[in-house]
Amino acid sequence: MRTNIKPKTIFTGDNLPIMRGMNSESIDLIYLDPPFNSNANYAAPIGSKAAGAEFKDTWTLDDVDNAWLDLIEAKHPALNRVIHAAMTDSDKSYLIYMAVRLLEMKRILKDTGSIYLHCDPTMSHYLKLVMDSIFDKNNFRNEIVWCYQRGSRTKKQFSNKHDAILFYSKTKNYLFDFNAVRLKRKKTNMKVETDSEGRTWQIKKDTKSGKVYRYPTDIGTLCPDYWVDIQQLNRSENERTGYPTQKPLALLERIIKASSNEKDVIFDPFCGCATTLVAADRLSRKWIGIDISEKAAELVIDRIKDDQGLFQDIIARTDIPKRTDLGDIPRYNAPENKTLLYGEQGGDCNGCGTHFQKQHLEVDHIIAENVGGTDHIENLQLLCSHCNRIKGERGQEYLISRLNQK
Ligand SMILES: C[S@@+](CC[C@H](N)C(=O)[O-])C[C@H]1O[C@@H](n2cnc3c(N)ncnc32)[C@H](O)[C@@H]1O
Ligand SMILES: [Zn+2]
Repeated sequence: MRTNIKPKTIFTGDNLPIMRGMNSESIDLIYLDPPFNSNANYAAPIGSKAAGAEFKDTWTLDDVDNAWLDLIEAKHPALNRVIHAAMTDSDKSYLIYMAVRLLEMKRILKDTGSIYLHCDPTMSHYLKLVMDSIFDKNNFRNEIVWCYQRGSRTKKQFSNKHDAILFYSKTKNYLFDFNAVRLKRKKTNMKVETDSEGRTWQIKKDTKSGKVYRYPTDIGTLCPDYWVDIQQLNRSENERTGYPTQKPLALLERIIKASSNEKDVIFDPFCGCATTLVAADRLSRKWIGIDISEKAAELVIDRIKDDQGLFQDIIARTDIPKRTDLGDIPRYNAPENKTLLYGEQGGDCNGCGTHFQKQHLEVDHIIAENVGGTDHIENLQLLCSHCNRIKGERGQEYLISRLNQK
């Protein structure tokens, strides 16, 4: 599917409605570095290029829109269980907020695409369960441990000096260019030999088997899942904008090189000061970014202009895009929807759980049309007429709580 967003577009706004306006299967690679549920609020230092940028990372159930829960409860029971396994209301709210967005990311990702979710040990264990239930455990590729030295240290426990990056593919048919991310071979005390063509080789002899291994010094080693060679940015680094939580370009370059080709579309829904977009631009990829902070859009334009020395047709938008791949989807109550949903639900009503024949079930909008719900199959379910009458235009939560009262 073709993307309905022009390359080099930066959106200012909440990424959920914007992603809902993006075509399905139109993105090759997603990197996201969302708030980590760190219970802190971030602001850029006054005087830095990013001054004025701030975002909150504290969570309560007030941050959760009931319609998000409705969708998860109705359509994604395994995901719903994972979210409710969280210990506190704050963790639950954060996971609901993330889960509805990750569901959209899965929809817009091409079948050959990959997603990298950057997080830290605060929530990585919960996020991995969320990712397993959305992208399927079989599509889990790596937990990349990004180790760094800089930042504060503590004497109360071991200092936290790593982030986790969860890498999933959408299907088994994904791109991974291991050659593009080889690491420079380190000098070792292995013997080095030069062959007749002038090429040098490191030679290792296995003392037990006597087998000899030869490694060409001009081809790097395969990159492992722990990255110790990329540092956090320090204050004086050239690429530093002052944007809170800015990530190094080298980190994004490795991810983009490994999981995309030139001209592919790279998408960052929490793009901050645009590290992903700058790295994608340098590597001749197309890019789309979203950030809720207005400062982010300003910084993208500045950084790419600085980088390329010219203004590069960047499109800054604040509207919600309209999908162009919905033209021919059937009306919600079309027979093909009913057949598909009947199979999906195993013939049970999605409210009371009673088994019915197909003709006794009705197609319901999980999120009602008058509050923005669409005819897309992801927003449809089958209910018996009794449950459908109780629910009316209200949410799934309401239906379930009414049924539980009995
Ligand atoms: C950890 S920072 C990303 C930093 C980025 N990787 C960089 O290198 O600059 C998280 C970003 O998410 C943005 N954000 C938070 N909630 C958002 C939402 N609902 N939609 C879009 N952006 C959001 C914040 O403004 C912040 O810039
Ligand atoms: Zn029912």
